[in-house]
Amino acid sequence: MLGRQLPSIITERVPGPASERGVERLARTECPSLTMRRARRAERSGAAHDPIVWVEARGANVVDADGNVFVDLIGAFGVCAVGHAHPRVTDAVARQAARLPHALGDVHPSSAKLDLLDRLAAWLPFDARIVLGLNGADAIAAALKTAVLATGRPGVVAFEGGYHGLMYGPLAICGSHPGFREPFAAQLNPHVRFLPYGDAAALEAIDGTVGAVVVEPALGRGGLVFPPEGWLAQVEARARAAGAVVIVDEILTGFGRTGRRFAFEGQLTPDLVCVGKALGGGLPISACAGTAEVMAAWGDPDREAIHTATFAGYPIGCAAACAALDAIEDEGLVERARAVGEKWRERLARALGSRAREVRGRGLMIGVELDDGAKASRVVQAALTHGWLLLGAGPGGRTLQLTPPLTIDEALLDAFSQVLPRLLDEAA
Ligand SMILES: Cc1ncc(COP(=O)(O)O)c(C=O)c1O
Repeated sequence: MLGRQLPSIITERVPGPASERGVERLARTECPSLTMRRARRAERSGAAHDPIVWVEARGANVVDADGNVFVDLIGAFGVCAVGHAHPRVTDAVARQAARLPHALGDVHPSSAKLDLLDRLAAWLPFDARIVLGLNGADAIAAALKTAVLATGRPGVVAFEGGYHGLMYGPLAICGSHPGFREPFAAQLNPHVRFLPYGDAAALEAIDGTVGAVVVEPALGRGGLVFPPEGWLAQVEARARAAGAVVIVDEILTGFGRTGRRFAFEGQLTPDLVCVGKALGGGLPISACAGTAEVMAAWGDPDREAIHTATFAGYPIGCAAACAALDAIEDEGLVERARAVGEKWRERLARALGSRAREVRGRGLMIGVELDDGAKASRVVQAALTHGWLLLGAGPGGRTLQLTPPLTIDEALLDAFSQVLPRLLDEAA
């Protein structure tokens, strides 16, 4: 049944001919940076890096234009926590689309938005006030603005390896790859300092000029890196001592990914939490949630709304998010991610032995670190040809990112544990 199927590759090569034709079409119209990036990667790793064209997806499966069936071990960048096309999400979207696809944002809200704000507030461990956005970067931008209003300070501390989105506000605090920022540096917030992630001594640099400290509870794109026990509490303590606001980026980790509702739980108490990805069950929607106290900095509601957007809080996204949150709760996906993820991580570590530098993770956020990025790139490509969708993350892309749907069948995870050692041997 599509959704729980093992890979099924029916073309001689992957990408097959229909995907190849799609990629040729793409090269004629898409911004060239994406096409050229594939060529560079191919040069570096010695493996072709043309993509497949997705035409359908359900549960943990993706079907390409040639009819090949893949298992999505990235969960569409961590978006599909409830699986692709979860029936509760698709039903909610269809109903909302037929009834009210668009309302009037911050002027006249939709009932779907009221429902989502109540649901989200119930998920958060503090008395939350929420700003909705469309993507993760929107949520981070709203949090950065809130911090400036609350503290009057433009200074931001972020961390090396951190990724917060590439729109202008978040771009200035993206520490995962200097190349993201460099061409635009002249237009970015100059008051940003990057500290090494996980380093307690470096936190001394958080001083009275800093208005916001922005931290991921575990680095995602930065290489699936989990900080030492107690470090997040030290970040909070240092930020509080300096009078800065603590912004936790849960855009990848939120809603069960690490086996907790939020990865910060039990580690620190944030002023602001940013979520996105899994929230919409596949649709673009994000939120910046702050304590009532910090959000009061936005001031008098009678004034002009100084932070809004045409589609913020759009009804279809809100309806999808309500359905996704209900599915996560009703199917016990937070607990499932913890239990299934732990077993899988142990199984992967046992199967790989000395082939991997490290297998690490919490819940269904697992990284397999290899010796070098070129090899990881070859493994990603070899995995694709066998029907497994993976990505490389972190420095040089040498860590394989495993963030599958939280609903994924254990049989698929078991099968992958058996296949991965062979893929690594092939790529050696
Ligand atoms: C931790 C984290 N923050 C922010 C973002 C940016 O989200 P978006 O791409 O939706 O703007 C991402 C995206 O990968 C992310 O992983």
